Amino acid sequence: MKTFENRKLAHLKYSLREEVQSIELSEWESVGFFHNPLPEMNFSEVTLSTSFCGEILATPFFVSGMTAGHPGANSINLGLAKACATRGWLFGVGSQRGELDGPRATVDRWAKLRKSAPNLKIIGNLGASQLADAGIDGIRRLIESLQPALFAIHLNALQEVIQPEGTPHFRGVFQFLEQWEKHFPKTPLVLKETGCGFSQKSLEQIVKRLPNLFAIDVSGGGGTHWGRVEGLRAQSQKNRRSAQLAQTFSRWGVSTVRSIQFADSALAGLKNQSTEVWASGGVSDGLQAAKSIALGAHRVGFAKSALAALKSGPKALDEWMELKELELKTALFCLGYKNVADLRVMARKNQDVTYD
Ligand SMILES: Cc1cc2nc3c(=O)[nH]c(=O)nc-3n(C[C@H](O)[C@H](O)[C@H](O)COP(=O)(O)O)c2cc1C
Repeated sequence: MKTFENRKLAHLKYSLREEVQSIELSEWESVGFFHNPLPEMNFSEVTLSTSFCGEILATPFFVSGMTAGHPGANSINLGLAKACATRGWLFGVGSQRGELDGPRATVDRWAKLRKSAPNLKIIGNLGASQLADAGIDGIRRLIESLQPALFAIHLNALQEVIQPEGTPHFRGVFQFLEQWEKHFPKTPLVLKETGCGFSQKSLEQIVKRLPNLFAIDVSGGGGTHWGRVEGLRAQSQKNRRSAQLAQTFSRWGVSTVRSIQFADSALAGLKNQSTEVWASGGVSDGLQAAKSIALGAHRVGFAKSALAALKSGPKALDEWMELKELELKTALFCLGYKNVADLRVMARKNQDVTYD
């Protein structure tokens, strides 16, 4: 099996371990809501539907990119994709790197997934440090096989440094992304982190240099920490240097809550910029989703918790997804908002949400 596939399988295993969750970085408890005891509507009037590229999606939720197109992850991909198609969630695939230089079978696997859920809105995925190697033609091939609605480029600087075989090559990434729209006008770009979040300064630079960015998925601290995942891998490989590096940086990152606030503030006042803010990184329930939206997020994503739910089978995953929707709807109702857009725009204006 190729190194990439082996690594992705190890990631699937280690990311479910408790010690890789950076719970102490999360700031969900700093965000509070004031209850509205008289919402003046019926619960049945609450809707989670959102507009997406001229269409309506049933929910503002997505499953964040995790699994790649290797044999060990096939059933996971299909399970997540089918569930997302049924419930109206966006579905992010994991890094498509293996397809770039992999066998034809890898490409066929994605095409099969696409066939199994023709209406599913998929988000493609590739690491920023692989852009130069992939080139425009490589990315075009990835887009042709999967037909994603959007394409996410993931930023994982810490992980690439800790990973013994990592490629921490980020020079030229901005320049490459500035050309995105010219080459792929029908596949808008999402820029995502992978659990370390964003600083205010980085976001200001990003929104300035990439005015046509579709979304920033903050993927902040509080959930799966890729320094820690690589630390476990390094330990299993008896690589003391990487294991120690991972230990030193085990609390590195900007919380999801903070990152959403930074993104919202970086975008405030940019009149013609419609970039969405996506919240992910340690989101595990619909109340945290409501907090994210009230702070300015348009959509909310789950990675590890969706994977953990699927472990118990497709029915368990569907029930878990339904519960996340019910939790968000309950928050909307008890705040007196009929939909997600109202919560995002009005909660701060009406001082329904607090942060300390
Ligand atoms: C098993 C696993 C594999 C992942 N692989 C990728 C990947 O290939 N590309 C990517 O952009 N993010 C990847 N991620 C990161 C997630 O998309 C997400 O940003 C991060 O895990 C934080 O979300 P969480 O706390 O809900 O897990 C992966 C996450 C998990 C759990």
